[in-house]
Amino acid sequence: DGFPAERLFNQGYSYTYDDVIFLPHFIDFPTDAVHLNTKLTKNIHLSIPCVSSPMDTVTESSMALSMAALGGLGIVHYNNLASEQAALIRSAKSRRIPFISDPIFKTPSDSIDSFDDFASSPCVFVTQSGNSKSKLLGVVAKSDWESLSDKDAPVSDYMSASPVTAPSSYSLEQVASFLASKKLGFVPLVSERDGEVLDLVTTADVERICGFPKLGGLPSIGKDGDFMVGAAMGTREQDKERLEHLVKAGANVVVLDSSQGNSIYQIEMIKYVKRTYPDLDVVGGNVVTAYQAQNLIQAGADALRVGMGSGSICTTQEVCAVGRGQATAVYKVSSIAEQCGVPVIADGGIANSGHIVKALVLGASTVMMGSFLAGSNEAPGIYEYQGGRRIKKYRGMGSLEAMTKGSDVRYLGDSAKLKVAQGVVGAVADKGSVLKFIPYTMQAVKQGFQDLGASSLQSAHDLLKSRILRLEVWLRFVQEQLKLKAGCMIWYTMRR
Ligand code: XMP
Repeated sequence: DGFPAERLFNQGYSYTYDDVIFLPHFIDFPTDAVHLNTKLTKNIHLSIPCVSSPMDTVTESSMALSMAALGGLGIVHYNNLASEQAALIRSAKSRRIPFISDPIFKTPSDSIDSFDDFASSPCVFVTQSGNSKSKLLGVVAKSDWESLSDKDAPVSDYMSASPVTAPSSYSLEQVASFLASKKLGFVPLVSERDGEVLDLVTTADVERICGFPKLGGLPSIGKDGDFMVGAAMGTREQDKERLEHLVKAGANVVVLDSSQGNSIYQIEMIKYVKRTYPDLDVVGGNVVTAYQAQNLIQAGADALRVGMGSGSICTTQEVCAVGRGQATAVYKVSSIAEQCGVPVIADGGIANSGHIVKALVLGASTVMMGSFLAGSNEAPGIYEYQGGRRIKKYRGMGSLEAMTKGSDVRYLGDSAKLKVAQGVVGAVADKGSVLKFIPYTMQAVKQGFQDLGASSLQSAHDLLKSRILRLEVWLRFVQEQLKLKAGCMIWYTMRR
């Protein structure tokens, strides 16, 4: 029944994930026996095969932190100054709890103007600098301010001068029992090194996060003992300076961000990164063919990012007439990369858990997701309402709007004078926290693997290579077209 992958993908057709379907195989183990631990690069191991995309509506501190807490990894975008990108990485790496608060700070001589200062926080912190960059001097709780007769008094007059704090190295469980044992409603997490406030954790946050389903795997912790965080960068001369910032901030891996990675610029940058920082892993891409992949592997790439025009907001295939169906691209590149021990990141086009199963079984070691994560609490941006539904903005990094902010190098290179968009601006529905829906998604992926008789990524790849796992072309697309045509015919008949 069906076709072996090798035969299906060598017929000159380009298939997207939706064009193919696996035939089920034999089950002789429970779902919980499926393990999804994997490699992001030659040297980085992850508990789950999930990576968040370096897009400015997807990955900043909160997403990077949460992905690492889940056992995946976030790649911080570079549509900003190098110092801003470095600050986002530091912020994610300095924490232990998958949650980023937005504490309010005042200097001792400031006063509190209105209730607004307590709108998003149960207290205000007092430091000499009026921001998080100096030692905590005191705390003003909302109730302290409410009972005050002279609202213009400086905060130093009525702050609690020796607030209870907890060390920022505490895990969620440690903070939870600390709050319970001291009967506190909130506690500032303070750096042991310099007394700076890194976070504010409330009992409500702890209850919310503790209520999320558990994945059971290890979080992604680097050799430095902090959460692992990745960073995107370009291949221009000034990106060497950015790289220095990223390394100082503790980035564990850099991703050379290009829609067509097989270029002299990228090859030279891969060699530069490996020469200058031999311990830093570098991801090359994007590629979709074996020829492109071989060039970047030879240059020293520690992983390859695969996909061109496959993303939900991409228009590269329409604008430039280049690209490849994502299922074919993942299969073809993985076949070559595996022989060289280079992991593949299947980037773009993931709209459901079935797509993740397809990408992983066809040879990828991880999937990189944009739209799948963009509606989450952890994605940058605020929720808006559209037709009564809560949505968040999601935009292509090649959209005119994003390029105006600087991301044009990914799509235009150095010399292009006119901007032509290769992506669009859209919105995605509110999905809640990644801490909640990623565990459910991983469970669905495990069930897919079980149906295929594969208890791990390696066993899925082996079953595919040995022709035991078989596929068919899924004519859903044609069916949709036929339905559409039938609809048009009816409409046409009615008009006549
Ligand atoms: P998904 O499908 O997960 O895709 O939303 C995310 C991936 O899409 C790529 N990307 C773009 N591709 N024009 C493109 O052709 C764009 O403007 C654009 N922005 C992002 C990128 O690889 C990302 O990970």
